[in-house]
Amino acid sequence: MALFEWKSEFSVSVTKFDDHHKKLINLINELHEAMLKGKQHSVIGKILNALADYTKYHFAEEEKLMVAYKYPGLVEHRAQHDAFVEKVADCIKKYEEGKLAISLEVMNFLRDWLKGHILSTDKKYTAFFAANKVA
Ligand SMILES: [Fe+2]
Repeated sequence: MALFEWKSEFSVSVTKFDDHHKKLINLINELHEAMLKGKQHSVIGKILNALADYTKYHFAEEEKLMVAYKYPGLVEHRAQHDAFVEKVADCIKKYEEGKLAISLEVMNFLRDWLKGHILSTDKKYTAFFAANKVA
């Protein structure tokens, strides 16, 4: 069973962002699988970097839309994104220096952060974008 499964309750009602979230969940599951199978350091490193890159792309896309529609929660939302990007970058740095192993603790952090962010922070823009006819 996958570590993390997208459920309809995660929908933010913006199709593009639901698709992004599914892709992020897939990358987290891919990393988890690689960890369980004891894949090579370089293989895990590649997945970690893919996760970091896609996360940055996705956050930038969300923020672009928030800026375009003058979303009132932008500053607070962006601060959460920035903190996560920094945390993931720090994990990658430590992983590459051999100071961090990808453990269940790391995996749970990634899953719980994304899940919590979607359910509590992203969901706040659902009604706003719907009112602006963004789907
Ligand atoms: Fe977000």
